[in-house]
Amino acid sequence: MTGAAAATGAATGRGVLLRDMRWWDLDAVTALEHDLFPEDAWSRGMFWSELADAGHPAASRRYVVAETPDGRLVGYAGLAAVAGTGDVQTIAAARDHWGTGLGARLLTELLRTATAAECHEVLLEVRVDNPRAQRLYRRFGFEPIGLRKGYYQPGNVDALVMRLADPGVPSGTDPDPALTAGDEPGVQETEIHG
Ligand SMILES: CC(C)(COP(=O)(O)OP(=O)(O)OC[C@H]1O[C@@H](n2cnc3c(N)ncnc32)[C@H](O)[C@@H]1OP(=O)(O)O)[C@@H](O)C(=O)NCCC(=O)NCCS
Repeated sequence: MTGAAAATGAATGRGVLLRDMRWWDLDAVTALEHDLFPEDAWSRGMFWSELADAGHPAASRRYVVAETPDGRLVGYAGLAAVAGTGDVQTIAAARDHWGTGLGARLLTELLRTATAAECHEVLLEVRVDNPRAQRLYRRFGFEPIGLRKGYYQPGNVDALVMRLADPGVPSGTDPDPALTAGDEPGVQETEIHG
């Protein structure tokens, strides 16, 4: 995404800041990843590959992290966007930050990015046994459009496919003005977390 910017971050709930993910975040990101997605954690290489397509003029990806004032990484999220369709690649908040609105903040930032990229829809897959994440997505207007049987391996868990028809920032959310959404992402297919 062009102009992707340099997000310097703005104060969020409990002093947490959102900013663009950088390669030096990957130790903390993968540690959180293994805690939150024990069955199908992305490898460091997968994150590297995603970041390789972020933060440059033709980028198709945008990844952000959430950081506390003392430098602890407590969340991250990523979007792919191409040809008018956005895909939520991943979204995660540290367990001790669940219920603080961090998941909503991260999702809001991805939807801002999708809007800037002129996406007319945003898709995602979520495990059928993940009601918390599904509630978050429904709150933002995502609707179930299908099921992918056995999408998550090795557990053989089905994925619920959800779609948001218009990713404009929902009313009532509080976007981070200091985070500049990238523009014009292009895209690739990547398995997402659920
Ligand atoms: C899914 C996930 C990102 C949600 O993050 P979160 O920070 O808990 O999300 P939010 O705080 O925005 O919303 C969660 C709940 O907290 C509530 N909440 C939001 N702000 C709140 C606040 N300030 N105080 C108290 N509760 C609040 C919301 O109403 C919501 O309640 P609900 O689940 O009953 O609707 C997080 O649980 C997570 O990382 N899970 C593991 C990874 C994962 O499953 N990712 C999704 C892959 S598809």
